[in-house]
Amino acid sequence: MKKIFAANWKLFKSPKETREFFTQFKELSSKATGEVVFFPSAISLEATSTSLQGTNIKWGVQNAYFQAQGAFTGENSAQVVKELGGTYVLIGHSERRKIFGESDALIADKVAFTQSLGLIPMLCIGETLEEREAKHTFRVCETQLLQGLSKADKSKPVVIAYEPVWAIGTGKVATPEQVAETHTDVFSILQKLGFEQSPILYGGSVKPDNAAGLIKQPHVNGFLVGGASLEAKSFIDIATV
Ligand code: 13P
Repeated sequence: MKKIFAANWKLFKSPKETREFFTQFKELSSKATGEVVFFPSAISLEATSTSLQGTNIKWGVQNAYFQAQGAFTGENSAQVVKELGGTYVLIGHSERRKIFGESDALIADKVAFTQSLGLIPMLCIGETLEEREAKHTFRVCETQLLQGLSKADKSKPVVIAYEPVWAIGTGKVATPEQVAETHTDVFSILQKLGFEQSPILYGGSVKPDNAAGLIKQPHVNGFLVGGASLEAKSFIDIATV
Protein backbone atom coordinates (compact mmCIF):
# COMPACT_ATOMS: atom_id res chain seq x y z
CA MET A 1 0.00 0.00 0.00
CA LYS A 2 1.32 3.47 -0.82
CA LYS A 3 2.24 5.63 2.14
CA ILE A 4 0.50 8.93 2.86
CA PHE A 5 2.16 11.83 4.65
CA ALA A 6 -0.44 14.41 5.61
CA ALA A 7 0.05 17.84 7.19
CA ASN A 8 -2.66 19.34 9.39
CA TRP A 9 -1.89 23.02 9.73
CA LYS A 10 -4.83 23.68 12.08
CA LEU A 11 -5.30 27.47 12.51
CA PHE A 12 -1.78 28.42 11.36
CA LYS A 13 -0.39 30.10 8.22
CA SER A 14 -1.93 33.02 6.35
CA PRO A 15 -2.23 32.89 2.52
CA LYS A 16 1.09 34.76 2.29
CA GLU A 17 2.84 32.33 4.66
CA THR A 18 1.27 29.45 2.74
CA ARG A 19 2.72 30.67 -0.57
CA GLU A 20 6.14 31.16 1.04
CA PHE A 21 6.04 27.64 2.52
CA PHE A 22 5.23 26.02 -0.83
CA THR A 23 7.97 27.91 -2.66
CA GLN A 24 10.40 26.17 -0.31
CA PHE A 25 8.56 22.82 -0.01
CA LYS A 26 8.16 22.24 -3.76
CA GLU A 27 11.93 22.14 -4.17
CA LEU A 28 12.16 19.33 -1.60
CA SER A 29 8.99 17.42 -2.40
CA SER A 30 10.39 15.07 -5.06
CA LYS A 31 12.20 13.18 -2.26
CA ALA A 32 8.94 12.12 -0.55
CA THR A 33 8.45 8.35 -0.41
CA GLY A 34 4.66 8.49 -0.55
CA GLU A 35 1.71 10.73 -1.32
CA VAL A 36 1.92 14.15 0.34
CA VAL A 37 -1.28 15.90 1.46
CA PHE A 38 -1.79 19.34 3.02
CA PHE A 39 -4.71 20.51 5.12
CA PRO A 40 -4.31 24.31 5.40
CA SER A 41 -6.86 26.48 7.21
CA ALA A 42 -9.85 27.33 4.99
CA ILE A 43 -8.78 30.91 4.28
CA SER A 44 -5.48 29.64 2.85
CA LEU A 45 -7.05 27.00 0.57
CA GLU A 46 -6.97 29.10 -2.55
CA ALA A 47 -3.33 30.06 -1.98
CA THR A 48 -2.65 26.32 -1.59
CA SER A 49 -4.55 25.42 -4.73
CA THR A 50 -2.69 28.03 -6.78
CA SER A 51 0.71 27.16 -5.30
CA LEU A 52 0.29 23.43 -5.96
CA GLN A 53 -1.05 23.63 -9.51
CA GLY A 54 0.93 21.36 -11.82
CA THR A 55 2.42 19.31 -8.95
CA ASN A 56 1.39 15.88 -7.67
CA ILE A 57 1.02 17.21 -4.11
CA LYS A 58 -2.54 16.77 -2.84
CA TRP A 59 -4.53 18.96 -0.49
CA GLY A 60 -7.85 19.17 1.30
CA VAL A 61 -9.93 21.03 3.86
CA GLN A 62 -9.83 20.44 7.63
CA ASN A 63 -13.61 20.33 7.94
CA ALA A 64 -16.58 20.61 5.57
CA TYR A 65 -20.33 20.50 6.04
CA PHE A 66 -22.49 17.68 4.67
CA GLN A 67 -24.33 19.92 2.24
CA ALA A 68 -22.79 21.78 -0.69
CA GLN A 69 -24.42 25.15 0.03
CA GLY A 70 -27.15 26.83 2.05
CA ALA A 71 -27.78 28.80 5.22
CA PHE A 72 -24.87 27.36 7.22
CA THR A 73 -22.98 30.40 8.51
CA GLY A 74 -19.29 29.78 9.10
CA GLU A 75 -19.12 26.37 7.45
CA ASN A 76 -16.97 25.20 4.50
CA SER A 77 -18.30 23.68 1.29
CA ALA A 78 -16.70 20.45 0.10
CA GLN A 79 -18.13 21.22 -3.35
CA VAL A 80 -15.99 24.38 -3.49
CA VAL A 81 -12.96 22.41 -2.30
CA LYS A 82 -13.56 20.08 -5.23
CA GLU A 83 -13.88 22.98 -7.67
CA LEU A 84 -10.57 24.39 -6.42
CA GLY A 85 -8.89 21.06 -7.14
CA GLY A 86 -8.80 19.55 -3.64
CA THR A 87 -8.80 15.81 -3.01
CA TYR A 88 -9.40 15.23 0.71
CA VAL A 89 -11.66 16.29 3.58
CA LEU A 90 -10.36 15.79 7.11
CA ILE A 91 -13.28 14.65 9.26
CA GLY A 92 -13.76 14.15 12.99
CA HIS A 93 -10.41 15.45 14.22
CA SER A 94 -10.39 15.28 18.03
CA GLU A 95 -10.29 19.09 18.17
CA ARG A 96 -13.53 19.18 16.12
CA ARG A 97 -15.07 16.55 18.39
CA LYS A 98 -13.99 18.17 21.65
CA ILE A 99 -13.96 21.94 21.02
CA PHE A 100 -16.79 22.10 18.47
CA GLY A 101 -18.91 19.24 19.84
CA GLU A 102 -19.02 17.12 16.67
CA SER A 103 -20.90 13.86 17.18
CA ASP A 104 -20.31 10.52 15.51
CA ALA A 105 -23.67 10.97 13.72
CA LEU A 106 -22.58 14.30 12.19
CA ILE A 107 -19.22 12.78 11.28
CA ALA A 108 -20.97 9.89 9.50
CA ASP A 109 -22.95 12.36 7.37
CA LYS A 110 -19.78 14.26 6.49
CA VAL A 111 -17.97 11.06 5.48
CA ALA A 112 -20.86 10.00 3.22
CA PHE A 113 -21.26 13.44 1.64
CA THR A 114 -17.53 13.75 0.98
CA GLN A 115 -17.53 10.40 -0.80
CA SER A 116 -20.62 11.33 -2.83
CA LEU A 117 -18.66 14.25 -4.34
CA GLY A 118 -15.75 12.00 -5.30
CA LEU A 119 -13.51 13.44 -2.57
CA ILE A 120 -11.69 11.26 -0.03
CA PRO A 121 -12.65 11.46 3.64
CA MET A 122 -9.76 11.19 6.11
CA LEU A 123 -11.58 10.05 9.24
CA CYS A 124 -9.83 10.71 12.56
CA ILE A 125 -10.34 8.47 15.57
CA GLY A 126 -8.56 8.05 18.91
CA GLU A 127 -8.95 7.71 22.65
CA THR A 128 -8.36 10.17 25.49
CA LEU A 129 -5.85 9.46 28.27
CA GLU A 130 -8.65 8.48 30.67
CA GLU A 131 -10.01 6.03 28.10
CA ARG A 132 -6.57 4.49 27.54
CA GLU A 133 -5.94 4.16 31.27
CA ALA A 134 -9.34 2.50 31.67
CA LYS A 135 -8.33 0.06 28.87
CA HIS A 136 -11.12 1.32 26.60
CA THR A 137 -8.92 2.11 23.58
CA PHE A 138 -10.27 -0.77 21.47
CA ARG A 139 -13.87 0.02 22.33
CA VAL A 140 -13.48 3.73 21.58
CA CYS A 141 -11.84 3.07 18.20
CA GLU A 142 -14.47 0.45 17.36
CA THR A 143 -17.37 2.79 18.18
CA GLN A 144 -15.87 5.72 16.29
CA LEU A 145 -15.23 3.54 13.23
CA LEU A 146 -18.59 1.75 13.35
CA GLN A 147 -20.50 5.01 13.61
CA GLY A 148 -18.24 7.19 11.47
CA LEU A 149 -18.35 4.69 8.61
CA SER A 150 -22.02 3.74 9.06
CA LYS A 151 -23.11 5.61 5.92
CA ALA A 152 -19.87 5.20 3.95
CA ASP A 153 -19.56 3.48 0.58
CA LYS A 154 -17.12 0.54 0.75
CA SER A 155 -16.39 0.82 -2.97
CA LYS A 156 -14.97 4.34 -2.57
CA PRO A 157 -11.75 5.30 -0.78
CA VAL A 158 -11.58 6.32 2.88
CA VAL A 159 -8.39 7.01 4.85
CA ILE A 160 -8.29 6.49 8.63
CA ALA A 161 -6.08 8.53 10.95
CA TYR A 162 -5.54 7.06 14.40
CA GLU A 163 -4.61 9.94 16.68
CA PRO A 164 -4.57 9.24 20.41
CA VAL A 165 -5.82 12.49 21.96
CA TRP A 166 -3.15 12.39 24.69
CA ALA A 167 -0.39 12.41 22.05
CA ILE A 168 -1.66 15.43 20.09
CA GLY A 169 0.41 18.56 20.58
CA THR A 170 1.87 17.21 23.82
CA GLY A 171 5.23 15.91 22.64
CA LYS A 172 4.16 12.54 24.17
CA VAL A 173 4.26 10.31 21.11
CA ALA A 174 2.75 6.84 21.42
CA THR A 175 5.46 4.19 21.70
CA PRO A 176 6.09 1.93 18.68
CA GLU A 177 4.54 -0.93 20.73
CA GLN A 178 1.38 1.06 21.46
CA VAL A 179 1.12 2.07 17.81
CA ALA A 180 1.65 -1.51 16.63
CA GLU A 181 -1.02 -2.85 18.98
CA THR A 182 -3.64 -0.21 18.22
CA HIS A 183 -3.07 -0.17 14.45
CA THR A 184 -3.43 -3.95 14.40
CA ASP A 185 -6.71 -3.58 16.32
CA VAL A 186 -7.92 -0.79 14.00
CA PHE A 187 -7.09 -2.95 10.98
CA SER A 188 -9.07 -5.86 12.44
CA ILE A 189 -12.09 -3.60 13.04
CA LEU A 190 -11.85 -2.24 9.49
CA GLN A 191 -11.65 -5.80 8.19
CA LYS A 192 -14.83 -6.70 10.06
CA LEU A 193 -16.56 -3.64 8.60
CA GLY A 194 -15.34 -4.32 5.05
CA PHE A 195 -12.96 -1.34 4.89
CA GLU A 196 -9.68 -3.28 5.06
CA GLN A 197 -8.38 -1.45 1.96
CA SER A 198 -8.27 1.82 3.90
CA PRO A 199 -4.80 3.14 4.76
CA ILE A 200 -4.31 3.77 8.50
CA LEU A 201 -2.21 6.82 9.40
CA TYR A 202 -0.79 7.54 12.83
CA GLY A 203 -0.92 11.07 14.28
CA GLY A 204 0.20 12.63 17.55
CA SER A 205 3.60 14.26 18.13
CA VAL A 206 5.19 12.73 15.02
CA LYS A 207 8.65 14.30 14.55
CA PRO A 208 11.61 13.62 12.26
CA ASP A 209 13.33 11.70 15.06
CA ASN A 210 10.49 9.29 15.86
CA ALA A 211 8.97 8.78 12.38
CA ALA A 212 11.39 6.03 11.27
CA GLY A 213 10.56 3.85 14.29
CA LEU A 214 6.80 4.30 13.86
CA ILE A 215 6.57 3.69 10.10
CA LYS A 216 8.02 0.19 10.56
CA GLN A 217 5.10 -0.93 12.74
CA PRO A 218 2.40 -3.19 11.29
CA HIS A 219 -0.52 -1.41 9.58
CA VAL A 220 1.11 2.02 9.79
CA ASN A 221 0.56 3.42 6.30
CA GLY A 222 1.74 6.97 6.94
CA PHE A 223 1.29 9.93 9.26
CA LEU A 224 -0.95 12.88 10.01
CA VAL A 225 1.40 15.56 11.31
CA GLY A 226 0.56 18.78 13.16
CA GLY A 227 3.35 20.94 14.60
CA ALA A 228 6.23 19.32 12.69
CA SER A 229 4.50 19.98 9.34
CA LEU A 230 4.66 23.76 9.70
CA GLU A 231 8.29 23.87 8.67
CA ALA A 232 9.21 22.54 5.20
CA LYS A 233 12.45 20.85 6.26
CA SER A 234 11.00 18.94 9.22
CA PHE A 235 7.95 17.80 7.23
CA ILE A 236 10.04 16.53 4.32
CA ASP A 237 12.26 14.69 6.81
CA ILE A 238 9.14 12.86 7.99
CA ALA A 239 7.86 12.29 4.43
CA THR A 240 11.12 10.64 3.39
CA VAL A 241 11.24 7.90 6.07
P1 13P B 1 0.90 17.21 16.52
O1 13P B 1 1.71 16.52 15.46
O2 13P B 1 1.23 18.66 16.69
O3 13P B 1 0.89 16.43 17.81
O4 13P B 1 -0.65 17.19 16.00
C1 13P B 1 -1.19 16.02 15.56
C2 13P B 1 -2.50 16.30 14.93
O5 13P B 1 -3.45 16.69 15.59
C3 13P B 1 -2.61 16.12 13.47
O6 13P B 1 -3.94 16.11 13.07
